[in-house]
Amino acid sequence: MQIELLLENYIKSLPDSTTKSAMLYSLTAGGKRIRPQLLYTVLKGYSVDPEIGNPFACALEMIHTYSLIHDDLPAMDNDDLRRGLPTCHKQFNEATAILAGDGLLTYAFEIAAGSNENSGTVLKCISILSKMAGPSGMVYGQQLDLEAEYKEIDWDMLQRIHEHKTGCLLTAPLLIACTLAKHEEDISAWKKIGFSLGLAFQIQDDILDIELTAKEFGKSNSDQKNHKGTSVSILGIERAKEVMNDLYQTAIEEIQTLTGFESAELLEYVCQIQQRRK
Ligand code: IPE
Ligand code: IPE
Ligand code: MG
Ligand code: MG
Ligand code: MG
Repeated sequence: MQIELLLENYIKSLPDSTTKSAMLYSLTAGGKRIRPQLLYTVLKGYSVDPEIGNPFACALEMIHTYSLIHDDLPAMDNDDLRRGLPTCHKQFNEATAILAGDGLLTYAFEIAAGSNENSGTVLKCISILSKMAGPSGMVYGQQLDLEAEYKEIDWDMLQRIHEHKTGCLLTAPLLIACTLAKHEEDISAWKKIGFSLGLAFQIQDDILDIELTAKEFGKSNSDQKNHKGTSVSILGIERAKEVMNDLYQTAIEEIQTLTGFESAELLEYVCQIQQRRK
């Protein structure tokens, strides 16, 4: 079943509430679904049925969507536009947006725990998911990001922020797919790939925040308004583009070192991400 339908069905099975409506609103607003797609593509590269990844693909997209809903709140980036629509707190209200985020985060773990794979494997995948999403992963990165507003930060600090706030949730699908495919000998390679990809992806997000209008980007471009330290403010736009392209290249070369993994489709997908303009 398609990820879009799976996500919708999971939400529709919940009891009616404003929280449910807000969860559905943000989840079906039109995200690129990059994290589920990475998970499915890695499973296919290992010749494993991608359907076994469904609960984890949905869980990842729910956690990612929750991170965006909370990221947009007035107390964080205070943004009005997301995925081409008013942000969750603008469409509903702040309390509902907080609860929609809470709902997506906790429901994600209920769904992941419902996987039919062997319970030891499921436990490992849930552990990856919680580590990457939580206070030593994405949440940690978001805390550092907020604390860095209005401050002079250096490139090392910015990399740390980017690797956590963005790299962790882009690395999780690679590690989960590798675990589901029972190729744990490749975990450290996938960590390197994920963190290069994540850093490249957030540098690109910083560049697009400058280059695109909110309408083109589908979300508020608020880095300057919020006095964020970004790859563009620290490196300048031309150097940021070079570093971004080098990091995508590093990820591509690392993918090619994996033996026992059919890499063509993933390489094609990474190139697509590198070309994205939204
Ligand atoms: C946006 O992620 C937040 C960042 C990590 C830069 P995406 O660019 O994957 O957002 P959606 O899911 O397509 O909306
Ligand atoms: C936040 O980075 C990434 C998350 C963990 C949500 P940004 O704040 O730059 O993401 P956008 O630009 O609002 O999507
Ligand atoms: Mg932010
Ligand atoms: Mg933001
Ligand atoms: Mg951004």
